[in-house]
Amino acid sequence: MSREKRKLDHIHLAMEESTSVQSHFDLIRLIHLSLPEVNLAETNLSTSISGVPLHSPIFINAMTGGAKSVKEINRKLAHVAKETGIAMAVGSQRAALQKPELWETFQVVRDVNPKGVVIANLGADSTWDDAGQAIDMLKADILQLHLNVPQELVMPEGDRSFVGILQNIATLVDRVNIPVIVKETGFGMCRETYHQLIDIGVQIVDVSGGGGTDFIAIENKRRTQNDYSHLQAWGQSTAISLLESLSCQNQLTVLSSGGIRNTLDIAKSLALGAQAVGIAGLFLRILQTEGTTALIQYIQSWHQQLHTIMTMLGIRELAAFKQVPLVVQGELTNWCKARQID
Ligand code: FNR
Repeated sequence: MSREKRKLDHIHLAMEESTSVQSHFDLIRLIHLSLPEVNLAETNLSTSISGVPLHSPIFINAMTGGAKSVKEINRKLAHVAKETGIAMAVGSQRAALQKPELWETFQVVRDVNPKGVVIANLGADSTWDDAGQAIDMLKADILQLHLNVPQELVMPEGDRSFVGILQNIATLVDRVNIPVIVKETGFGMCRETYHQLIDIGVQIVDVSGGGGTDFIAIENKRRTQNDYSHLQAWGQSTAISLLESLSCQNQLTVLSSGGIRNTLDIAKSLALGAQAVGIAGLFLRILQTEGTTALIQYIQSWHQQLHTIMTMLGIRELAAFKQVPLVVQGELTNWCKARQID
């Protein structure tokens, strides 16, 4: 199976995926305050990731590149990012490191949006030389290193050994001279992982939890033998991954992604301590079914909605979301009790 064919399969199968009806975000309630004392015009959506300023907490998360036929998707996503002022991560650049003719499928993102915040993406097992090339290819502001162990294992042609990855991340974080995000790919993270990463010097994680794109489900649909459907929904939801991060947030910048459906999920992510919020599958589906203008309008309306929610909550700055009172309900309460999360 060629890498190019796999990338196209991922896009087609991700298009079929729909976000689950029950999301753990539904078990978190932000408490309504009747006297917010805020003027909507004063609310401010700007934030930053390790000193890189962002106009909005919303960013397009890593999806594609590395196949001639997906260059157009990256061009359109970059146009959306430019028009809405949001940051954009590209998909894994590994394929382009092996085939220089594929560079243009990523470089289009920087060409379309020369002043935007662009995030490079590679697997966490990549070398320092690979990282340097991936960053140069995009003049990237930030580098994402992705973790996708369950996906690799369910992929017939995927990796089978994951020995040495933590040490490799330590080397990259030490040597790369732009901020490095260690991100999951829809399986979420837990406190144990955060501590492993903090101990080797990682400062930013994207929890990328379950509830949205499910790469076990996607890879399972590409298999003909050895059914793995019982492993679907493996991992921690995004809400649980954020709860697990609460005790580490003084040492770690936490980004939220995975199954974000609307601005209330974004608000809840920010209230659980996220600094910014990534969306992948949903934006791809809107882009491919409704087009570029529709996705731009969608994100613009999300920005308006975030101003509205901030006003209702009585906050002017995104950082103040962390003080917003909230209640955790149902299954999540049991998780917090079992894991001693206050
Ligand atoms: C992805 N994702 C991804 N992540 C990554 O770090 N490198 C990659 O190359 C890809 N490729 C990719 C392709 C497609 C088609 C999709 C939909 C997703 C994972 C993505 O960045 C994100 O972590 C998960 O999809 C969870 O977010 P959503 O989709 O639930 O919003």
